[in-house]
Formats: sequence, C-alpha cells, structure tokens
Amino acid sequence: MAEKPRSLSRRQLLQAAAGTAAGAGLAGHAHAGADGSAAPPRPDTSSSMIGVPFERHAAVRFGLIGCGGRGQSLLRDLLAIDGVEVKAVCDIVPEKVEKAQGLVTKAGQARPEGYARGERDYENLCRREDLDLVYVATPWNWHVRMARAVMESGAHAGVEVPAATTIEGCWQLVDASERTQRHCIMLENCCYGWSEMLVLNMIRAGELGELTHAECAYIHDLRSLLFEDRGEGLWRRFEHWRRNGNLYPTHGLGPVARYFDVNRGDRFEYLVSMSSPSLGLQAYRDRTLPPGDPKRMETYDCGDMNTSLIKTARGRTVVLQHDTVSPRPYSRINLVSGTKGTIRGYPDRLFLDGQQPHDEWQPIEKEKRTTGGVEDRFEDPLWKKLAETATKSGHGGMDYIMSWRLVECLREGLIPDTDVYDAASWSAPGPLSEQSVANRSASVPFPDFTRGRWSETRT
Ligand SMILES: NC(=O)c1ccc[n+]([C@@H]2O[C@H](COP(=O)([O-])OP(=O)(O)OC[C@H]3O[C@@H](n4cnc5c(N)ncnc54)[C@H](O)[C@@H]3O)[C@@H](O)[C@H]2O)c1
Repeated sequence: MAEKPRSLSRRQLLQAAAGTAAGAGLAGHAHAGADGSAAPPRPDTSSSMIGVPFERHAAVRFGLIGCGGRGQSLLRDLLAIDGVEVKAVCDIVPEKVEKAQGLVTKAGQARPEGYARGERDYENLCRREDLDLVYVATPWNWHVRMARAVMESGAHAGVEVPAATTIEGCWQLVDASERTQRHCIMLENCCYGWSEMLVLNMIRAGELGELTHAECAYIHDLRSLLFEDRGEGLWRRFEHWRRNGNLYPTHGLGPVARYFDVNRGDRFEYLVSMSSPSLGLQAYRDRTLPPGDPKRMETYDCGDMNTSLIKTARGRTVVLQHDTVSPRPYSRINLVSGTKGTIRGYPDRLFLDGQQPHDEWQPIEKEKRTTGGVEDRFEDPLWKKLAETATKSGHGGMDYIMSWRLVECLREGLIPDTDVYDAASWSAPGPLSEQSVANRSASVPFPDFTRGRWSETRT
C-alpha cells in the first residue's frame, strides 16, 4: 500500500535495526547522565528525523496495542476516518481484543487479526508485514519498549502520553526513531483542541506579539478512577507510590511547546520543581474504602500538587503543574503572554493591549462566534471542516482531529506536526521534576534531544 521509505524494504529495516540493537542499548546507557544533561554526538548510523516526511499511503493500515479505555476510544475515531484500515489488535485480555475486533467488523471492515497470548504477544503483531502505523495505548511502563518494537518492525509508532517516564526511555525512542527512520509520534490530543489550535493561530498571526511566559497544567481529580478495580485503577495509582514529581506533563506542556516553537527555534533548557505534601490519596481512601481493604496499607510519595518552572533557551518561562488527587475542577490553565496581550483558558479569555477596558478580559466563546470576531478569524481550518464529526468523538473532538490529521499526513506524504524530539522533550519533565524535587528543587538541565538542531526554524 505504501511506498517503502528511502527504498529500504521492511526486511532490510528489520536487519538494520537488529544489527544496531546491541549498540543502541549501549548508546542508551551512555545518554543517561546523572543529571540527564549529556547528549553525546549523534551515532554514525543515525540521521535526524527533523523534517522527514511520511512516505505516501493510498490507505493507512493500522495496528493497535492496548484495547482498554483509551485504545477503544482511539479505535472508534480511526474507524470514522476515510482511508483507514485496521489490520491487527492486541491486548493481554482476550475479551478486550474480541471487543475491538467487533468494533472493526461493525464498521464494515474485515475482522482484524487478534493478539491476546500474553504480555509479549505485541511482538508478534509487530512481525506483520502489512502495518503502516501502530498505536500504543497501554500503561506507561510499556510505552518505550512497544514503540521501539513497532519502529524496529518498519512501521511508524503513535504512542500515548507520556511517551516515556525516564530520560533513558526518552533517548531510547530518539535513538530508535533515527536508527529505523520511522516516526514516533506522541498522541498529544490536547494540541488539537479547539482552543489550543485557535491560540496557536493567533500567536502565528502575531496577535500576542513576542511571547514571554506561559502557564499550563494537568489538574484533574482522578481519585475515584485511581481506586477502581479495573482500567487505570489497575496500574496508574502505583505511579504515586514511589515517584514524586509531575507524573503527566504533556497535556499542558504540548500546546505551550507548540506556541513557543520548541525544537524549532527555542528549547526547554532547565527546570526547577517542588511538590506539596502527599495527602489527597490517603485522605480519600481512608474515607471511602472499608476497613481491611488492602489498599489502605499503601503509602504514597507523590506530592498532591507538583509545580515546575521551566526556562527556555530564549529566556521564556513556563509554570507547569500536576495535581490529580485534590478536589477541584478540571483545568490545563492554558495561559500564554506576549508583548501585545495574554490569553488564558478555563474559561477561554483574551486581553489585548489597548483593546479592552483596563483589567477586563474579553471572553472567547466558540458557541457565540460573530463574523470577524477572534473565534471566527482564528478558528483552525481543521475545526471548520471537521467539527460536526469531531464533536461526536472523545474529549470534545480533539481526539478525532488529532487522528484525522495524522492520517492526512500519512496519506499525503507530509512531515508530521510533531516528531520524536517533541515526544521526548514534552515527556522529560516527568523524570526531571522527580530529580529536582529529590534535590531541594535544584535546577536540572533538559537534554537536547535534537542533538543541536533545536535552533533551526521550520515552516
Ligand atoms: N490522551 C488522552 O487523553 C488519554 C486519555 C486516557 C488515557 N491515556 C493514555 O492511554 C494509555 C492507556 O490508558 P487507558 O486509560 O486506556 O488504560 P487501561 O488500563 O484502560 O488500558 C490499558 C490496556 O493495556 C492493556 N495492556 C497492558 N499490558 C499490555 C501488554 N503487555 N500487551 C498488550 N496490552 C496490554 C491492558 O489490558 C488494558 O486493556 C495510557 O498511557 C494513558 O496515559 C491518554
């Protein structure tokens, strides 16, 4: 279906990947400096994935690893997009694989092959010759090895957030993407929200002037979900046991990185981080779980609110927060300031220098758009085109727009909107915040995952 990349066959790609696998392992360890700062020279065998377009595909043949809550939601979106064929699905729970197969046949496609024979059956899915892109929607500890296996099989990887939870894992993704010349796209749906795309368009049109500062977050009360005996309750709470930092940085930071052209003229340079006491999960479970429930024996290290400050190479600042255990309404904050104005989310509002009465925000309201208003002028063309179908999908439509755009890039042979360097840079505040918190908020440098190419602007 697809032209082979740079005239390498899938078999040649597999051989190339196998031939460098041992070296890659060593290279990965060399990258993992104590403070994560040392980016060694690019290995001779690698070439950058910056600006590399997808090969063109008449149709995009998908595989899916992880058919839980997120995997099924992604699958439903994919099945509503023209030119998508779902060929293979994998989960360790056979019933989830059957359910995913049922969704595909219900959409009128041939029954995809199912892989449900244990936690390494995804390797068999990766041995298929007929996949162009594989989505990985499994618990965090599986992301890096699965995305690597996908790329080493010759397919592109679409990995859920965060792409990695260690600096070593971030480098492994970069190394694998460069070695195999396959893209590793982190599925950061928040970059495709109606508001985030509108803000990006306003920034690119110069409406906010020179950008100076942003504030963003993942503030989402997940307490009841974290204690469930299914879905994320089976693994996500465990991350709070031993890790103390920002466990989920990318939903807030991804859109900000796009506003700031990170890896395209600026880069995250260093970070300091602090965590509040860890009280929320204990208080919640003591109040809600019956005496004798084994979860009452657990202890949690992760501070309820983690706040990091990031400095960029161009001197700009970002406040990045994470709190999933306090009783408060959902917010990603989504604030960005420049020399001509400020926008913030929750609810969306705007302050432009000289255009509003002093100290008064102007609301940005999708539903009340007027001709010539900012909502009308800066709404992204993708939203104008796809809103009707998108809003029937997950998270207010951003999930559908994200997958639609990725499929468009594959079908048209375009450069993807984000790449493995973005996946690594946006995921890195997870482990970097842990390092800083553990060292009395010491400043921790970001690795330069682009190996020096961050300052190149891109169109
Ligand atoms: N972008 C978003 O808005 C968003 C929303 C929710 C979840 N997520 C991300 O999606 C991922 C999955 O989250 P979820 O909510 O679907 O969790 P989930 O627990 O509902 O689903 C995970 C699935 O992975 C399967 N699995 C575990 N190990 C496996 C293995 N070795 N091989 C194959 N399958 C395996 C599990 O059986 C389960 O069905 C996480 O990374 C999460 O952070 C992203």
